[in-house]
Amino acid sequence: KKIYLLEMRASVICYRVQSSASVEVYLIFQLPLSANEMFSLQSLETKFQLYTDTTGEACQILFNQLETLDKCSFNASLPLVMIVHGWSVDGILESWIWKMAAALKSHHKQINVIIADWLTFAHQHYPIAVQNTRYIGQEIADFVEWLEESIQFSRSNVHLIGYSLGAHVSGFAGSYISGTNKIGRITGLDPAGPLFEGMSPTDRLSPDDANFVDAIHTFTKQHMGLSVGIKQPVAHFDFYPNGGTFQPGCHFMHVYNHIAQYGITGITQTVKCAHERSVHLFIDSLLHEDKQSTAYWCNDINTFDKGLCLSCRKNRCNTLGYNIREERLPKSRKLFLKTRARMPFKVYHYQFKIHFINEIQGKKIDPSFTMSLTGTKEDAKNLPITLVEGINGNKTYSFLITLDTDIGELLMIKFKWEGTAVWKNIWDKFQTIIPWTKGTHRPGLIVKTIRVKAGETQQKMTFCSQSFDNIHLYPDQEKTFVRCEDRFRHQERK
Ligand SMILES: *[C@@H]1O[C@H](CO)[C@@H](O)[C@H](O)[C@H]1NC(C)=O
Ligand SMILES: *[C@@H]1O[C@H](CO)[C@@H](O)[C@H](O)[C@H]1NC(C)=O
Repeated sequence: KKIYLLEMRASVICYRVQSSASVEVYLIFQLPLSANEMFSLQSLETKFQLYTDTTGEACQILFNQLETLDKCSFNASLPLVMIVHGWSVDGILESWIWKMAAALKSHHKQINVIIADWLTFAHQHYPIAVQNTRYIGQEIADFVEWLEESIQFSRSNVHLIGYSLGAHVSGFAGSYISGTNKIGRITGLDPAGPLFEGMSPTDRLSPDDANFVDAIHTFTKQHMGLSVGIKQPVAHFDFYPNGGTFQPGCHFMHVYNHIAQYGITGITQTVKCAHERSVHLFIDSLLHEDKQSTAYWCNDINTFDKGLCLSCRKNRCNTLGYNIREERLPKSRKLFLKTRARMPFKVYHYQFKIHFINEIQGKKIDPSFTMSLTGTKEDAKNLPITLVEGINGNKTYSFLITLDTDIGELLMIKFKWEGTAVWKNIWDKFQTIIPWTKGTHRPGLIVKTIRVKAGETQQKMTFCSQSFDNIHLYPDQEKTFVRCEDRFRHQERK
């Protein structure tokens, strides 16, 4: 006879006994259950769905029901990655979850991927959903402890990936798990900001919650003192793509594209764009093995934009996403990088250091330049350069340039002064006012050398004007610079 457990309230158990097709028989027991028996029948609010890439579907693992692990083909000798979603507006699992699950499986077949579905607790007013994060964190901790007790599964093999509120759920799971050992890794994808920003480490995701914690911050732009994603560091490595405030391709003008594509829900797509970018950056790291994005340790985005942080010495840089170098640091480290607006997001970072001598003393020049680069693989043409400060006197300027493609090793630079008509005019006036000095040249800008550092290869290069005796640059003029490390070193030795 098949007997189905239908419902259990306190110590009342209702069974359906299937006796024939047309007759249903119910048995109702009222039993004094031992604490242990109660526990073994306890169920969790969170649904743990094991993702199988063969069907693209999920199989639910029931807490304390060992047979469901077998039924779903949970492989205890493989690590577990658990995806934890965030606050839900519409009460359904968002499409990125399935993309993430599929990407994890395609990158790394040898893992169990579980989707922790806590929608009923996430589909609430935001402050209620925030309160529920602790509860769901506890359930995930219970689930992992159950795996440990029942199938000798080690918590160090667990990697929680939490998005938005799910990042804090993961943090609570990590801090509530009993014992001194921690779970392996937590990745926070744009961890939620409201009601978490500025809170103590025990009230949000923090580096103490797992052996290794990383976070990607993509939407920390403030609006009325609040930001969707948390601004402060919450991990061992905190990544701030494009500064972390906002993301390329998510700007307001794209609202119309989104509305055209998704109808009125396009508005929420736009709001989600920068927030959810954290997820797609992570998926990108799984899908494009050959295009891993490097991020660099830096104090802030302004310093980074000057190209001053592209060093990988003493592990100052790290890889964004799944393939990060796991290193426990005593203090959170902020890493910066630029990205493209779409997948693959990787760009190539270069620091350019140019020494300018402005021969017209006391007259600040605010010009715009363009550069064309020739590499061993490809060229990059007409890159605009805007220097934050005008060019005055005799000084070295440093700035960051990013390229979408790998041009190979840099061989040659063409540097052009985009003289506007206005500028040419002023320049011509100067010619007439200032008597020509030192021989026959008119005063201009002198660019002697351009020093370049490539972030991705860590290669340092020096470029010199092709014609050594003709080093003056005038509006509308282009100069070619070629590699001259040897010449330069030779000079320095003198
Ligand atoms: C579990 O994974 C291990 C390691 O890849 C493999 O050898 C084993 O066959 C798998 N077990 C099942 C039941 O699939
Ligand atoms: C620029 O400055 C350096 C040192 O600061 C000095 O040696 C050099 O003569 C200066 N060049 C000009 C043209 O003023």
